[in-house]
Amino acid sequence: MCGIVGYVGPGSTLDVLLGGLKRLEYRGYDSAGISVINQSGGLQTRKKAGKLNVLVEDLAGSPMADAHIGIGHTRWATHGAPTDGNAHPHLGGEHLKLSLIHNGIIENFAELKAELLAAGTKFSSETDSEVAAHLVAREYEKSGDLTQAFRSVVNRLHGAFTLLCIHEDHKDLILAARRNSPLVIGLGDGENFLGSDVAAFVEYTKKAVSVGQDEIVELRAESVSVSTFAGEPVTPKEFTVDWDASSASKGGWPSFMAKEIADQPQAVGDTLMGRLASDGSVKLAEFAGLDQLSEVNRITIVACGTAAYAGEVAKYAIEKWAKIPVSVELAHEFRYRDPIIDAKTLILAISQSGETMDTLMAVRYAKERGAKVLSICNTQGATLARESDATIYTHAGPEVAVASTKAFTAQITAGLLVALSLSWLRKAMPEAELKGLGKELLKLPRQVKKVLDSVGHMRDLGKAFSNAKSILFLGRNVGYPIAMEGALKLKELAYIHAEGFAAGELKHGPIALIEEGQPVIVVVPSQKGEDSLHPKVVSNIQEIKARGAKVIAIAETGDTQVDSVADEVFHIPVTSPLMASVLSVIPLQIFALELASAKGLDVDQPRNLAKSVTVE
Ligand code: F6R
Repeated sequence: MCGIVGYVGPGSTLDVLLGGLKRLEYRGYDSAGISVINQSGGLQTRKKAGKLNVLVEDLAGSPMADAHIGIGHTRWATHGAPTDGNAHPHLGGEHLKLSLIHNGIIENFAELKAELLAAGTKFSSETDSEVAAHLVAREYEKSGDLTQAFRSVVNRLHGAFTLLCIHEDHKDLILAARRNSPLVIGLGDGENFLGSDVAAFVEYTKKAVSVGQDEIVELRAESVSVSTFAGEPVTPKEFTVDWDASSASKGGWPSFMAKEIADQPQAVGDTLMGRLASDGSVKLAEFAGLDQLSEVNRITIVACGTAAYAGEVAKYAIEKWAKIPVSVELAHEFRYRDPIIDAKTLILAISQSGETMDTLMAVRYAKERGAKVLSICNTQGATLARESDATIYTHAGPEVAVASTKAFTAQITAGLLVALSLSWLRKAMPEAELKGLGKELLKLPRQVKKVLDSVGHMRDLGKAFSNAKSILFLGRNVGYPIAMEGALKLKELAYIHAEGFAAGELKHGPIALIEEGQPVIVVVPSQKGEDSLHPKVVSNIQEIKARGAKVIAIAETGDTQVDSVADEVFHIPVTSPLMASVLSVIPLQIFALELASAKGLDVDQPRNLAKSVTVE
């Protein structure tokens, strides 16, 4: 949600701002705007409802002089419709010399707005953000100290915010602040950058610094100074961005989603790299950050959406291999129901962005009650990683398409590593068995590639079902979260009714939905093992076929039983039942991608969605 970029330096500010906003488009937005300060012309602002190209065309029609300082914003509407007036930046002060952009929600804005209205301030938007612009300008007009004015205002704001502010009187200074909302600094040579995430400036620098909770940044071309809201100086921690700008481009693919699906062998391989020895033994160095791990008696996984489905797979793996009880909680439900947490609870937080507000709040809630936090995160410098006791990074690279694909399979991979590593640590399984599983895991990147090489049939099926009004998904064991993920992809991308069910639940209600021609995609469990659920799912297929369903099955190679009962079968390589989750989701991703593309929909930026949900 909302993309933020700031630049101060000798380069072309317009190029940096517009390029940065372009790379932040994936976050989801409905208007865009920029402000720059010229040495001669003062503050200039341009903002437009709609996509970034509307702003770019407006600038082409009536060009703006370039500058050496500026801020840019893409807005995902919360307070007020997506109009030109509500787009950011917002101007403040009697002579409108201050410009401010905001990501988040200022919860006490009504009270602050009433105070400003009573003092005669005129508003030109319906946003909560404009309040902050006027407040800072008013404080500055009183004190003449911009940093002090900014500090006093951020201390009055409640809620979530990243704010960037520039003022015509200060042609070399961007002020920024963050609380519960993301902000990263990019360190250049004689120039510096700010962004909601590193995508905003990765084209120019790989040296970055993440800004902590309740911190203020004073950014100049030659210096960066960070302090707390209270004014205490902070020594920021630098990190190197490990992906380049080209990895955030489509690289010849028709969409980011298509590219990111194709990236999966590498995403899975990179997530395993250095963590799994060739003899199959697993040791996560990241566990060193977690003392008393051997005493943990319960694991609670907190996450949202697709990440929560990856958590469900991790739960099956941790319970089976490490023998620790696990529950998976939707982060937004978790902290509102007095969950039982103590010092022996390990919280496993899963988030691609590391900025999902619901997940962050759940983590903070659990930490206050003494729990340790291990996170699985894809974004360096993210708030979640900063606030966790230890973080296992999925090395999936930037995920730009709003619908998660490669981050999901990388999250499952990391979850499997956590489960195996915990099992090694607690000696929960015989070493030989653990090594066998580790060796199986090593094969996963190649198997993912094999699946991708054979998805042609799934593409055709996606196109063939483009007029379907509803598609159901069934699965058992780890196939159940995969069924839910398949349904979520279809809802997000194709805007049709789709639902994932546990196949065993079918007779308890959902079977009533089956009628002639109803498409049902079934994730069939592996035939391996005495406790295999395979025969039960084959029976489910027969039951729904008898009632007219059109069945597409995802089954392992050599599953002749399924071949004879389903209408269509997509085969995946044979692997350990838990690891099959990574393989079986790929045909479902392809199915959703093709179906939505056949309907002519934008698969990278589906309607109403934002990549990173930074408000509750
Ligand atoms: C679905 C999707 C979302 C995210 C969810 C959590 O395709 O992308 O459901 O998984 O919003 O996001 P992160 O992982 O960034 O916390």
